[in-house]
Amino acid sequence: MTAPPRGVLAGTAAEPGVAKPDPLLVVDRVGKAFGGIQAVDVEHLEVQRGVITGLIGPNGAGKTTLFNLLTGFDRADTGTWSFDGRAVAGLAAHRLARRGMVRTFQLTKVLGRLTVLENMKLGATGQRGERLVPALLRPAWRRQEAAIERRADVLLARFKLDAMRDAYAGYLSGGQRKLLEVARALMVEPTMVMLDEPMAGVNPALRQSLLGQITDLADGGTSVLFVEHDMDVVMRISDWVVCMAQGQVIAEGPPSSILGNRAVIDAYLGSQHDEPGLGEQP
Ligand SMILES: Nc1ncnc2c1ncn2[C@@H]1O[C@H](COP(=O)(O)OP(=O)(O)OP(=O)(O)O)[C@@H](O)[C@H]1O
Ligand SMILES: [Mg+2]
Repeated sequence: MTAPPRGVLAGTAAEPGVAKPDPLLVVDRVGKAFGGIQAVDVEHLEVQRGVITGLIGPNGAGKTTLFNLLTGFDRADTGTWSFDGRAVAGLAAHRLARRGMVRTFQLTKVLGRLTVLENMKLGATGQRGERLVPALLRPAWRRQEAAIERRADVLLARFKLDAMRDAYAGYLSGGQRKLLEVARALMVEPTMVMLDEPMAGVNPALRQSLLGQITDLADGGTSVLFVEHDMDVVMRISDWVVCMAQGQVIAEGPPSSILGNRAVIDAYLGSQHDEPGLGEQP
């Protein structure tokens, strides 16, 4: 795959909801309330294809809820969104995965009672959950199994999990589970990966390698949208940063425009934390 240029957003204005030259994901009026709390209230958001977009915002800003809505893990009260030019609101997670949109979880959903390799194979189904294990036994999967296993082994080596291939995932460290979850998400050869705090709980050495994996993905043409509280990481690898607060997109722009942005600083101060990166809890 030929990677698109990562500097493609150079001419894009740093304004909430701004149009992108080649948006992969387009979100319109997506809302979700829990009881009296409007967890998500996004008027318009476009995520550019082929770049790394960092999604930041204080605790409770609605980042995870937005991921849940867009990826079919929770139902939006209102709104529409499209992925790769097609309306996908209401599609189930596994169907979105087959269309190239996959996500990982803030709290990993690696299945401890399956081996590392079995977890990877489940990733190829674009589905998760032990009730889906029978999928691995279906004839269609059997036929593809060798190819699926080869892909799994390549990814496990890339994420330095190959030595753990046949171990139960329950034996992995928290950081290794995070890596496994990212590796598993890549089994479907996604167009876009959405990572919810991929670095949280990952030790510094693994962190470095995970960062490298993420930038490699983008260099290879995969679009990345990731939630991260560590502002150093956000600033280092993001081509574009979106900031949410109280369910809304309150700022977006190139990383250099974000740290000094008044709305961003106010949002973090208003959440009784310090400035971005200085007082945030993962
Ligand atoms: N299942 C739920 N039931 C009730 N309220 C919820 C639920 N999920 C999220 N919320 C609320 O919705 C708001 C947004 O939460 P969300 O988890 O999306 O924030 P976040 O930006 O991911 O925060 P963090 O950075 O701490 O992960 C919060 O007020 C949260 O308490
Ligand atoms: Mg969250």
